[in-house]
Amino acid sequence: MHRITTAATAPIPARTRWAVAAGVGAALAAAWWLGDTAPYPYAQRGLLDVPLPFLTADRMDAVLQPRPGERFLEIGPGTGLQSLHVAPQLGPEGRLDVLDIQQEMLDHVMCRAERDGLVTIRPTRSDARELPYADGTFDAVYAVTALGEIPDPDRVLREAARVLAPGGRLVIGEFFDRHWIPFGRLHRLADAAGLHLTERRGPSAAYLARFRPCRAGVSGHRSERLARSGPDSGDGEA
Ligand SMILES: C[S@@+](CC[C@H](N)C(=O)[O-])C[C@H]1O[C@@H](n2cnc3c(N)ncnc32)[C@H](O)[C@@H]1O
Repeated sequence: MHRITTAATAPIPARTRWAVAAGVGAALAAAWWLGDTAPYPYAQRGLLDVPLPFLTADRMDAVLQPRPGERFLEIGPGTGLQSLHVAPQLGPEGRLDVLDIQQEMLDHVMCRAERDGLVTIRPTRSDARELPYADGTFDAVYAVTALGEIPDPDRVLREAARVLAPGGRLVIGEFFDRHWIPFGRLHRLADAAGLHLTERRGPSAAYLARFRPCRAGVSGHRSERLARSGPDSGDGEA
C-alpha cells in the first residue's frame, strides 16, 4: 500500500508578507492618485474653502483683472470660493456665469450668493468640454484647480478660446494635488489651443497663468521666454 505524502510548505516569513502588502498598497494608491477622473466629491467640500498657498485672492485679482461691466465665466467653481470674490468686482452691470458638472456645487454657490446679496451670478450645469455658449461671449474665462480634474483638458482649453471675445483673457490656476497640471504641460496645451501666455505667477506647483486667444500660426517670443523661465520661477509678472 502506497502512502500519499504531501510536501510540507514552508511558512512565508512575516517580512515578505509585509513587503507584498506594502507593494500592493503602493500600487493601489498610485492608481488612485494618477487614474481617478471623478469630479471632486461634494462630501469633501469643506476643504475647498481652505486657502491655497500662492493662489491667493490678491494674486487672482492681479492676474484676472476683473473690471465693472465685464462678463466672466468660471469653470468648476466648486463651492464658490472664487465666484463670491470675483462677482462683486464686475459690478451690477457685469455678470459671472458659473459652470459645473455637479448640481450640488452650483446650488452651494447660489446659496452663498443669495446670502451675500449677489444677483449677478448665473449657474449652468454642463460639461466644460462642450461649453453651451456662443463664440466670443466672455471677456474672461477662469478655472482654479479644476482643469486638471477634467478629462481632455485640451478640449476645455479649445472651448475656452472659442467662447472668449477677441482680446479676452483665460486664467488657469493649478495646485499640486492629484489632478495637478504642471505649468510646462499647460503651456504646451494652451499653445496647441491657440492661446498665448501673457502672465504667470507662482511656481509650477502652485501657479496662476493668464492667456489670450491668438491668431493661428502667430508664435509669441514673449510666450516662449515665459515658458523657458521653468517650473521653479517665482512670483511676478514675467
Ligand atoms: C477641485 S474643485 C475646484 C473648486 C474651485 N474652483 C476652488 O478652487 O475651490 C473642481 C470643480 O470642477 C468641477 N468639474 C469636474 N469635472 C468637470 C467637468 N467636466 N465640467 C465642469 N466642471 C467640472 C467639479 O465638480 C468641482 O466643482
